[in-house]
Amino acid sequence: MPDKLPIRNGDDVVRVRQQVRARAVEAGFGLLDQTKIITAASELARNTLDYGGGGDVTIEILKEPRRGVRITFEDQGPGIADIDAALKDGFTTGTGLGLGLGGAKRLASEFSIFSKPGQGTRVTIARWK
Ligand SMILES: Nc1ncnc2c1ncn2[C@@H]1O[C@H](COP(=O)(O)OP(=O)(O)OP(=O)(O)O)[C@@H](O)[C@H]1O
Ligand SMILES: [Mg+2]
Repeated sequence: MPDKLPIRNGDDVVRVRQQVRARAVEAGFGLLDQTKIITAASELARNTLDYGGGGDVTIEILKEPRRGVRITFEDQGPGIADIDAALKDGFTTGTGLGLGLGGAKRLASEFSIFSKPGQGTRVTIARWK
């Protein structure tokens, strides 16, 4: 059963990290792989909260074709007008460093993003063992 958790405040972001860690351990990830997926999830959870106005996250363990963890972040916020620009290091519309999205992409084995202005944002990452 996938875990679905709300992301409405900073405490929820901490809970997302804890749940991702638990699922990564369950999937048999070593410390380096755990850290990579937790870091990526943390950045995306922050974005969901800060730019998406909150949303939710689904965390799943994958068994086929290999063991892994897949995490999907969804919000009904303003969306991203230019996804290619948002993925570039240094691009931010806030006060961050603009490294979160690109960093999360690099830390994941798979990365997909769907976003349209006015229709919210959905980002999925997966990391295989
Ligand atoms: N869920 C989202 N909804 C709307 N816009 C988003 C969302 N996630 C990211 N963005 C946009 O993409 C930009 C880049 O995101 P990214 O995480 O790379 O950088 P940042 O959050 O601004 O800074 P950092 O993550 O380094 O603290 C954000 O500044 C924001 O404009
Ligand atoms: Mg960010």
